[in-house]
Amino acid sequence: MKMQSKSILGASVSRRNFLRTSATAGAGLLIVRSSTAFGYAANSSLGLGIIGCGGRGTYDGGEFLNNTDVRITALMDIFEDKVLAARANFDKKSEEKGYGKIAEANLFKGHKSYEKLVQSKDVDVVLVTSPPYFHPDHLEAAVSNGKHVYCEKPVATDVTGCLKVMNIGKKFNGKVSMHVGLQKRYDVGYRGMIDRIHAGEIGDIVLGQTFYYTNDLGRQNKPGMTDLEARLRNWVFDRALSGDILVEQNIHILDIVNWALKSHPIKATGTNGRGLRKQVDGIPAEYLCSDHFILTYTYPGDVHISFNSNQFRNKGYRQSGERFFGSKGASESLQSGPATINYNQVQEGQKVADKIDCGKVDLHAAVGTKMKALVESVKSGKFHNECEMGAETTLTTILGRMAAYEGREVSWDKMMKSNEKWNLKMNLDSLGTGGAITMR
Ligand SMILES: NC(=O)c1ccc[n+]([C@@H]2O[C@H](COP(=O)([O-])OP(=O)(O)OC[C@H]3O[C@@H](n4cnc5c(N)ncnc54)[C@H](O)[C@@H]3O)[C@@H](O)[C@H]2O)c1
Repeated sequence: MKMQSKSILGASVSRRNFLRTSATAGAGLLIVRSSTAFGYAANSSLGLGIIGCGGRGTYDGGEFLNNTDVRITALMDIFEDKVLAARANFDKKSEEKGYGKIAEANLFKGHKSYEKLVQSKDVDVVLVTSPPYFHPDHLEAAVSNGKHVYCEKPVATDVTGCLKVMNIGKKFNGKVSMHVGLQKRYDVGYRGMIDRIHAGEIGDIVLGQTFYYTNDLGRQNKPGMTDLEARLRNWVFDRALSGDILVEQNIHILDIVNWALKSHPIKATGTNGRGLRKQVDGIPAEYLCSDHFILTYTYPGDVHISFNSNQFRNKGYRQSGERFFGSKGASESLQSGPATINYNQVQEGQKVADKIDCGKVDLHAAVGTKMKALVESVKSGKFHNECEMGAETTLTTILGRMAAYEGREVSWDKMMKSNEKWNLKMNLDSLGTGGAITMR
């Protein structure tokens, strides 16, 4: 898999037109990647840089290692302890695969140091797993430096951020691959079900019932944290950083609705609340996330979709899914279970439901499939662009949030013209802008 080339070592040449080198200083291991005019040679290995080294960054990075020949070559986080923990984890995993360690020069801390990571010659693909508020800036920096991107959902937390991501998608279309972490679109069960829906097997959809019920999230704050640190480390409870639970977590369900209906909603009504989540240490009340939403979306053709969610102590009850009801049948997809289609058939006056199993929903496998597809697109030069899809789904959640917060019907057009832009009211510079980490 490793290729040696003496001719161009150290040469300053265009990254896409010539062979290129990258040495992982930690192990002194030489990895030489070769690229073609349109992408990378099939036998080359791509370097992955991670922005935001928390739970998902660690998981996604591990799945890149498990499913592709990508190597982890750079890490960045606002907090040094996160970078060091991720480094220990990835160096161990990389060693098991016979790869080198991450070079010390490629470890960055501080909120502005992502600018350094995206400039690293060892990075071909950037994984954006920072809190959602930062995604548009992190995505833009990566693609502006010629890097391919796997950006976790949601693409932004407000309308302005989504419009920015749409523009990035247009500007860099065909120049780099841009994936958004809506992995259900790569799931075998979901794909089987949606293909059947699109083939007209349940007829015209007239109604949908969708839901996401899950447990409260684990607390992360510790005594002695500053207010700023508590908000950043507990960003999942902070509306400005996360977009609220509808945008941050429930997005996976509304993505299936848009996919099934090949559209975005034209209006929404709804409500939200904090029935059980009265306070979370370190999160100011004005920023505290809701613990439930109840919404009704209207899609073109007067199709109505209900959506219910909660994020509180359900005593272990967790389920999320989608049911679509059409003129010929119904579909059901549950996070834990198969995606199915039920046909309404009439035989001798008796209604018979003919159930088709479209395949088990396996989101863990879907993540791996999606990562393989991204790497394949980079190597083949047939770049993917999920920016518009990711922004449209994120905007769908923002529409529901706007309707719930305002307590009245909001149309898509009104939302798009709203210039909505959230303000963190945080002085991130006070934590230090950062740079390379000096190893002790
Ligand atoms: N696709 C999925 O199913 C899925 C699942 C879980 C999380 N996610 C997404 O992944 C992203 C990360 O979630 P997580 O669960 O890993 O959260 P996390 O808190 O575990 O990790 C986020 C990391 O980002 C760091 N960070 C905070 N501000 C930063 C900044 N300005 N620059 C760089 N790093 C910063 C934090 O210190 C932390 O280490 C979110 O967008 C989340 O919605 C997606």
